[in-house]
Amino acid sequence: MQKAWFYEEYGPKEVLKLGDFLIPSPLHNQLLVQVRAAALNPIDFKRRQRPIFPSDFPTVPGCDMAGIVVGKGGGVTKFDIGDEVYGNIQDFNAEGKLKQLGTLAEFIVVEESLVATKPKNISFEEAASLPLAVQTAVEGFKTAGFKEGQTVFVVGGAGGVGTLVVQLAKHMYGASHVVATCSTPKVEFVKSLGADEVVDYTKTRYEDIEEKYDFLYDTIGDCKNSFVVAKDEAPIVDITWPPSHPRAVYSSLTVSGDDLEKLRPYLESGKLKALIDPTGPYTFGDVIEAFRHLETGRAKGKVVIFPFPSHHLPSCVPSESKNKITSEMFPQKLSAPSPTLNAVE
Ligand SMILES: NC(=O)c1ccc[n+]([C@@H]2O[C@H](COP(=O)([O-])OP(=O)(O)OC[C@H]3O[C@@H](n4cnc5c(N)ncnc54)[C@H](OP(=O)(O)O)[C@@H]3O)[C@@H](O)[C@H]2O)c1
Repeated sequence: MQKAWFYEEYGPKEVLKLGDFLIPSPLHNQLLVQVRAAALNPIDFKRRQRPIFPSDFPTVPGCDMAGIVVGKGGGVTKFDIGDEVYGNIQDFNAEGKLKQLGTLAEFIVVEESLVATKPKNISFEEAASLPLAVQTAVEGFKTAGFKEGQTVFVVGGAGGVGTLVVQLAKHMYGASHVVATCSTPKVEFVKSLGADEVVDYTKTRYEDIEEKYDFLYDTIGDCKNSFVVAKDEAPIVDITWPPSHPRAVYSSLTVSGDDLEKLRPYLESGKLKALIDPTGPYTFGDVIEAFRHLETGRAKGKVVIFPFPSHHLPSCVPSESKNKITSEMFPQKLSAPSPTLNAVE
């Protein structure tokens, strides 16, 4: 058995409960990972609050994790037992659903294509903070067709995604000038990420900014106001749905381990840093408090869950599920999953 956070109804963070789950078995192309650290993202509470991107109940929330491979399916080629990996485990399946067993669990299963080897110079907490946010940040530059030497204006430079957008703009995509917005207490923090200029949005309105930019990257969904800082033909990317201005293009992440692998040189050289919200990391037992903080909308970098309980894997857990039934992942006290779900997972 393992411990996992789960909910069986939509609602506020108080619907989250800690319960006993059996440890899942990896399918042919999956790894069984002992989670050492996880990170929260707004999608984790949005899909708990209402039925967007649904998965059946009970739902264990969580997309991001870093951990150690403790089992694998027979078709796995890139990873071995003992490898340290990280990734966003939540890719949509053919039915548009996400996994029922997310990363707020001691053990998870994940397709090997969705994870990458954790760079040795970063901790489990740092690695867990990266996947979903950095995949989103990268995709925005692709959506915009961003070119080296262009200027970029980042709305929301201090959040989980924004901290990475600023760093990527400066240190990976070769932006000639990076401007980012945040509130007064975070100005020095955002400067430290490499922003050439920081606009304190509590003191300066977008209309009062004279300069116009080649790319407007809005991470908070304020395009209806922020669009004025973009040059006439400049791409405007909004990562919130629906985009709040007719010129804005919605950009959504691609979930891929290979994309994380491409960031390795930047993480190893220290050009790209994981930023963990200083109110954390929150222990595994403190998940509700971690959600409370994320849901204020004031997170500085990423809200991380660490440490996890580090139980040894019971020797009876098979390395590959011989059948496709993954009912082991459900708390025994709850009703058995439907057969269609098993095929999905
Ligand atoms: N499309 C996708 O694939 C995708 C992927 C990931 C996230 N998202 C969405 O993108 C949004 C951001 O995600 P996130 O993880 O970065 O959230 P987050 O970490 O919760 O963002 C918090 C940050 O937002 C900043 N902020 C709030 N209001 C602001 C304003 N008016 N101007 C400037 N900054 C402001 C806050 O800074 P201050 O305290 O200084 O205000 C805080 O640092 C969420 O809605 C999320 O659901 C979409």
